[in-house]
Amino acid sequence: MVTDDHRPKVLIIDNKEEILAKVQPGLSEDYAIFQAHNGTAAIDISLKEDISIVLLDLELDSPSANNGNTGLCTLEQIIQRNPLAKVIATYGISERQNVIRALEKGAFDVFALPINLDELKIVLHRACHRLEIEQEALQVHCPENRLPFQRMIGSSAVMKAVFSTIDKIAETDVPVFILGESGTGKELVANAIHSKSTRRNGPFVPINCRAIPEALLASELFGNEKGAFTGAVAHRRGKIDYAQGGTLFLDEIGDLAPTLQVKILRFLQEKIIERVGGREAIPVDCRVIAATHRNMAEAIEETRFRPDLYFRLAVVKIVLPPLRQREDDVVQIAHHLLQSFSMELKKPIKKLSIDAIEAIRRHSWPGNVRELQNRIKCALVLADGSFIGPADLELEPSSGPFSGWTLRQATEELQREIVTKKLHDSNGNISRAARALGISRPTLYDLMSRHGLDYRTI
Ligand SMILES: Nc1ncnc2c1ncn2[C@@H]1O[C@H](COP(=O)(O)OP(=O)(O)OP(=O)(O)O)[C@@H](O)[C@H]1O
Ligand SMILES: [Mg+2]
Repeated sequence: MVTDDHRPKVLIIDNKEEILAKVQPGLSEDYAIFQAHNGTAAIDISLKEDISIVLLDLELDSPSANNGNTGLCTLEQIIQRNPLAKVIATYGISERQNVIRALEKGAFDVFALPINLDELKIVLHRACHRLEIEQEALQVHCPENRLPFQRMIGSSAVMKAVFSTIDKIAETDVPVFILGESGTGKELVANAIHSKSTRRNGPFVPINCRAIPEALLASELFGNEKGAFTGAVAHRRGKIDYAQGGTLFLDEIGDLAPTLQVKILRFLQEKIIERVGGREAIPVDCRVIAATHRNMAEAIEETRFRPDLYFRLAVVKIVLPPLRQREDDVVQIAHHLLQSFSMELKKPIKKLSIDAIEAIRRHSWPGNVRELQNRIKCALVLADGSFIGPADLELEPSSGPFSGWTLRQATEELQREIVTKKLHDSNGNISRAARALGISRPTLYDLMSRHGLDYRTI
């Protein structure tokens, strides 16, 4: 995945094509434009794409609006789910009476139709600026673990240490070597380092050194000139070249063939590449992150991997612990996955039964988070009723309710249950939920983070 689109996202909610047709050409250079024709689709897109800047036609309020979702109601729902959303409400003569109500309900600004593109650009720019400031302020108030760390859930001591290492090294340019069993989140960590680095606006280019046959890997990595080998019908850029200004992620490097190990070592030493069949030395400036599930000490001992390459790559080592060594993270991730898969699959949220939680704790998770994902997804699709039990997860049932639980685990679970319920009852409105629980908003944020709860998916 080459991520090179860093334009702010703007969602246009309008059941006519007019507004979109008018503004899209003028805005698409600076903004990534999304469109929804009704309120339901708008909520879906804004959550899925994580869009906080919205242009909403208040005329959705008219009886012709789809699915009974009126403009004002959509505005309310968007803000409830994402309190930072900046909704710019557009109105014509017929909706003047709703302008004040839109502002009362939290619209960032209101805008009279017909749209003047230059004025709209100023309002959008202001909305983006305000959003940035508020997001930064939230980060300051919600340090480390109030928000999930770059989509990684975990509050065990071992994972906190991993997060802290990522924070320390992200902004430096040192090569990083990530070690961990299959499914422990190595690619997620590589992504987190890139997103927190000064190269975050450049591309993140992963390449799996195991999945591609050796004969093709050289040209995949370094590119090739036309006619370099049979089938090389055209000149082609390699993945390393595409990583200019960004991060190259050499996944499964432990499986790299010896001939290519030499070439990668040369690239790391000289920061230049040559295409297969080419003579030109192409300078490449990128950060390199490598990962493997292999035991590297063994690979070096058995001369399958060059020690000089290993030491160049492993200036900083991050060892991702298997899920079974992460205290109660596994339960937290399971709850989180249930929420996000329910959204993705458009299924009503199901809960884990007490037995299921215990079975999850006792299982050794050889496939780590990926195995947990598969079991949860399958259970969500197949389980009847609103609870998921050990059998739905194809795990061994426990010997009796609460049999393996400590008091602390039981208390945590009860706390999670109550917080989820209040967030649900208040439609994800943090202030209302905090009031109902008799705690402050910061405390509620702490609890949500501890239990991997996201107000947008409640
Ligand atoms: N701490 C975590 N919180 C939430 N999701 C996670 C976490 N760790 C991993 N995942 C998810 O688990 C899946 C596997 O993670 P990832 O692909 O990064 O693992 P990997 O170590 O590269 O696995 P493999 O060795 O199989 O390639 C991904 O969908 C990722 O988003
Ligand atoms: Mg991987």
